[in-house]
Amino acid sequence: MQGIEKYSGALQSYLDEVITLKEPIRLYEPIKYIVSLGGKRLRPVLTLLSCEMFNSDYKKALPAALALELFHNFSLIHDDIMDEAPLRRGKETVHQKWNLNTGILSGDAMLILAYQFFEEYDPIMFRELAKLFSKTALQVCEGQQYDVDFETKNDVTIPDYIKMIDYKTAVLLGASMKMGAIVANASEECKTNSYDFGRNLGIAFQLQDDYLDCFGNPETFGKQIGGDIIANKKTFLYIKAIENSSEEDKMILEKLLSEKPEDPTSKIKTVLEIYNKSGATKETLNEISSYTQKANIVLSKLVISDENRKILLSFGEKLMKRNV
Ligand code: IPE
Ligand code: IPE
Ligand code: MG
Ligand code: MG
Ligand code: MG
Repeated sequence: MQGIEKYSGALQSYLDEVITLKEPIRLYEPIKYIVSLGGKRLRPVLTLLSCEMFNSDYKKALPAALALELFHNFSLIHDDIMDEAPLRRGKETVHQKWNLNTGILSGDAMLILAYQFFEEYDPIMFRELAKLFSKTALQVCEGQQYDVDFETKNDVTIPDYIKMIDYKTAVLLGASMKMGAIVANASEECKTNSYDFGRNLGIAFQLQDDYLDCFGNPETFGKQIGGDIIANKKTFLYIKAIENSSEEDKMILEKLLSEKPEDPTSKIKTVLEIYNKSGATKETLNEISSYTQKANIVLSKLVISDENRKILLSFGEKLMKRNV
């Protein structure tokens, strides 16, 4: 994404400096592994961008940005255990490459490492950042619990789903923007608006992730296509397909998303057909646009330069069109 390369570059150098291999190797190697696989680095880039937009040196936000990326990577290791996912960023997941216990403990260590980066700030800023971080991290856990609970629930509504993705994903993007504003000593209004911008973008982002999980290109997406269908996830696609389908398709869909067959090939194929046929796929794409639009409305309220507004606008547009 144009205009933001300098942030990912600075972040990478900082990462290489602070995330090193040491004893016990079995604890730190998986940390290095997952972090080195890269990913889009969305959250830290948002933090650095936001800090600079509110007229401060983005380098001051590097520790907070790294804390967010480490937390995100920790959540991915544990999420992959919970979702029984084999692939992450085009490579084996941590628990698959090593084992479950390694995934649990290296994940725990990453969460603690993340917290430690806030120690780089003075006590007043430390408190504000740590407070936001703790609140957000707890919401992520709540969102993850809803996500798992919904696998075996067949009456999940659209508001239930939106709340679940708001917690598991969107609040972290909100916090990423807000931390940049906090480090820049921006006004309370700027902090709130930047949070709301990130959060709306985050909802669009998770909807898009669910869409790509079904229809993404396996070469670029880096995760197992159909993973959500295999795990019986109640996504926007599923809920809309149930709402729109004939009684017959509805019964087929409900039955398929309550089973875990040995070979999921035909399950995935049938479910995708119903998602398309029912119009659920189209509605999902519309919903992604609608939340990106919401983010853009908040964006218009942010007191930043027009040039920076354009950067954030194109950031959101690119997210919407992404295939990774
Ligand atoms: C994956 O996040 C988890 C979700 C919240 C959908 P990303 O798509 O940002 O993952 P990476 O960091 O780019 O691999
Ligand atoms: C993940 O949601 C959210 C968190 C990691 C907290 P998903 O389970 O959809 O993420 P992916 O698709 O595995 O990256
Ligand atoms: Mg997952
Ligand atoms: Mg998950
Ligand atoms: Mg997903």
